[in-house]
Amino acid sequence: MEKSFDEQMLEKLNALRTQKSVKILAIESSCDETSVAVVENGRNVLSNVVSSQIEIHTRFGGVVPEIASRNHILAINPILEEALKEANCTLDEIDAIAVTQGAGLVGALLVGVTSAKALSYATNKPLIAVNHIKGHIAANFIAHKDLKPPFICLITSGGHTAIVKVSDYNKFQMIGTTQDDAIGEAFDKVARIIGLGYPGGPKIDKMAQGEVGTIQFVKHDAFENSFDVSYSGLKTAVINYVHQKMQNNEELDIKNICASFEHQAIEMLTKKAIRACIQENLKTLVLAGGVAANSYLRENITKLGKENGIEVLFPPLELCGDNAAMIGSLAYYNLLSEEPAKLNMSAKPNIPLE
Ligand code: KG4
Ligand code: ZN
Repeated sequence: MEKSFDEQMLEKLNALRTQKSVKILAIESSCDETSVAVVENGRNVLSNVVSSQIEIHTRFGGVVPEIASRNHILAINPILEEALKEANCTLDEIDAIAVTQGAGLVGALLVGVTSAKALSYATNKPLIAVNHIKGHIAANFIAHKDLKPPFICLITSGGHTAIVKVSDYNKFQMIGTTQDDAIGEAFDKVARIIGLGYPGGPKIDKMAQGEVGTIQFVKHDAFENSFDVSYSGLKTAVINYVHQKMQNNEELDIKNICASFEHQAIEMLTKKAIRACIQENLKTLVLAGGVAANSYLRENITKLGKENGIEVLFPPLELCGDNAAMIGSLAYYNLLSEEPAKLNMSAKPNIPLE
């Protein structure tokens, strides 16, 4: 009897586990970036094409999910061709197809997932489903060729904030997380309130440069004795401060507001990430996610790391935001230890980390 497609893919994937060079074509479309990459053996990026929709969403003040999906559809095929061309390889030379399965916007994810399934079926190559947040961590495997688990990872993105113990390439344990808003979400909301617009994080970062930040928005950390954080309180404190100033017809010192908010948002996390390293007796701390691009975060955590004998690593700026190379990197480690995804696999807007 002829083997089913899934059985054939499992056989192919098993064979890849011992192959010397494995080239993975990866697709990322979870939010407002369409990206396709070709990555060899999880560490060597042959191409990483990223098409951002920032300009399209700026006039709406944030990402509009339906518009994001439609633009992913327009972008995906040309970007796929560009990524293959840049990697100087044909689809035939690709060993497996990887895609972000979640977390993210469901309509946006579906564009990548559907394209990856179609490619897998048409080319007879195994399909690998990747968790977006774990992918952000893998950006560090590309940037730091000798980095190996175990280490602590501080994940700071638009949708996630977490201190995680990475025990193995595919073994994660949550140590602390946000009880409400994600840190990137807080940056974006505060930026909107003070009129900086979308995307807020980079704009606040720029405004805060060189500023001390003299406004104390939150007096104490409600989760001081745990590894958890809350950003809703900090965000509300900034909103109340701004509204009060406006009611009194007082001018807003935007730079001071940005620096004060940024420093408080970052310091409450970095202290805990260092504490997590000490508790777990791990000497390496890795940053991941869009907010890992923040200059104060990079500076503050590097300083704390030095003071505590902990090596701090982060990806270069181009690998902090959403990109397919990080998905292709983690896909290689998934391939070594997991079964291929089935063709009835679907997008998962909410996907747990552990
Ligand atoms: O990881 P990411 O690209 O998307 C998610 O997976 O959520 O993160 C996007 C977030 C946005 O909230 C954006 O404002 C924030 O990362 N961000 C920054 C900076 N660059 C991007 N936040 C602070 N400082 C930055 N330089
Ligand atoms: Zn992301």
